[in-house]
Amino acid sequence: MTVAPSIWDERAERYRDSDAHRSGEDLDLMIDLCEPGEGIRALDVATGGGHVADRLRALGCEVATTDAAPGMNPDFVADAASLPFVDDAFVLAATRYATHHFRDIDAAVGELARVASDRVVAVDTVYQDDAVEEAELIRDADHVRNYSESEWRQLFASTGLAVDSCTVMDKWMNLDAWLARTGCDGDRAAAVRELVASRTRGSDWNLPVIVIRGRAS
Ligand SMILES: C[S@@+](CC[C@H](N)C(=O)[O-])C[C@H]1O[C@@H](n2cnc3c(N)ncnc32)[C@H](O)[C@@H]1O
Repeated sequence: MTVAPSIWDERAERYRDSDAHRSGEDLDLMIDLCEPGEGIRALDVATGGGHVADRLRALGCEVATTDAAPGMNPDFVADAASLPFVDDAFVLAATRYATHHFRDIDAAVGELARVASDRVVAVDTVYQDDAVEEAELIRDADHVRNYSESEWRQLFASTGLAVDSCTVMDKWMNLDAWLARTGCDGDRAAAVRELVASRTRGSDWNLPVIVIRGRAS
């Protein structure tokens, strides 16, 4: 099932401007694991505001971007579960903060592995418990599911990707900004705040992320 583009099209500017997306320890580690370099062909799947692609380009990669939403201005409008590229079209395929939206995660990881000749790097929020999943769904009807580290390892293994790096790290995000990005306010925002209350510190809340790399075997 393809994501309804209008939902993301109207959010595009907020994701381009988001501090949580533009920077972070997870983004720095992800870029290192991509092993960027002059002329390396790279793919950024579900590019959103283009923050991964921008960093890879600045380091010399030839980057193509995809996203299901035309409003994100990707090079190719495509669902992650069906990428319009031949096998091994890129040296590396990357995706960040998007897999929890994919309706068919198995197909999407399979596509990342199929189009990358050497490495796949994925970053996303990690499954914590049902309360966080409920909060995510109230905040954003397009949320599907976060996955645990063991589920991620299984997803990679099932496509033949050999995991050679896997790090889970805290990700502190401004709670007001996180809610505002999806237009979550009023009673819905109050319900979310209650569900994540035990994970908050001042104006921020912590939703850990996984940074995982697999090599084609
Ligand atoms: C949070 S944003 C991505 C953030 C971006 N990768 C970054 O690092 O800043 C999530 C993106 O996933 C895209 N998306 C959601 N479901 C998708 C799907 N099934 N296939 C491709 N893109 C999808 C949305 O359009 C949106 O641009």
